[in-house]
Amino acid sequence: MDRQLISLAVAILLAYVGPGRVVEAVLTPQQIENELAPHVGNTSHTPQFSPNEIRNSTCWGRGDVRYRTLDGLEFSYNTPTTKRGIMVMPWRLLPWWVVTIQEFFNGGPKTRIDEVYVRCSGQYFRADLGHTVALWYWSGTVWVAIPPPPPPLIFAGGDVTVGAFAPRGFTISCHAVPMTVNVYLHSVRITMTPLHSAANLGVRGICGDYNGDETNDYSNLEPLILPLWKPLLVPP
Ligand SMILES: *[C@@H]1O[C@H](CO)[C@@H](O)[C@H](O)[C@H]1NC(C)=O
Ligand SMILES: *[C@@H]1O[C@H](CO)[C@@H](O)[C@H](O)[C@H]1NC(C)=O
Repeated sequence: MDRQLISLAVAILLAYVGPGRVVEAVLTPQQIENELAPHVGNTSHTPQFSPNEIRNSTCWGRGDVRYRTLDGLEFSYNTPTTKRGIMVMPWRLLPWWVVTIQEFFNGGPKTRIDEVYVRCSGQYFRADLGHTVALWYWSGTVWVAIPPPPPPLIFAGGDVTVGAFAPRGFTISCHAVPMTVNVYLHSVRITMTPLHSAANLGVRGICGDYNGDETNDYSNLEPLILPLWKPLLVPP
């Protein structure tokens, strides 16, 4: 591996982390892929499609930690710091996903979203959330910082663009999915289109099944013995 690239990455890392800041564990894309792998391709279940009209919808997780599913169910849950939250992933293969990591807030037991990992069009991004957001992309070997505020940045030949999102956040636009991920403060917002509704065997994860019916979404992520086809947290 290129020594200069490593030095550059380390220099950028130090510039971002600054003195006195605790450096938390940073995952590699492969680690996340490995954790998601057991849940991929399990079509032992297909979601019920409700006749309710499905429009573009936004799912979010924010603060300590409040969620809204794509079908509009809102709930609070202290997502464990030891687990990744799977916000969205598809039913077959793993071409895109959004995964979170939590930290304790005010010493706990409250938690809040600390990091967001995004995959789409072969690109990986990592957002370190807080009063300001640090965004990184995966070079193939290291995480490389994207300085804020970014000019519109283009990845994967235009399939992915990254821009600024107020306040002090970023927008990752995954045009090929399509999916838009906004990261700011301790928040992540994910907008999907009806292409990913249950009728099209779209999404699963904490954001729910996007079938137009909020009553079958999980508001309590606690019963962790969930079927493989319905992953919410990894490892289980
Ligand atoms: C839904 O999302 C797509 C993709 O982001 C966008 O092109 C379209 O304009 C949106 N439609 C509405 C009604 O907001
Ligand atoms: C799919 O998930 C179901 C329920 O968790 C499980 O019984 C089944 O063995 C899984 N199938 C595969 C191929 O992993």
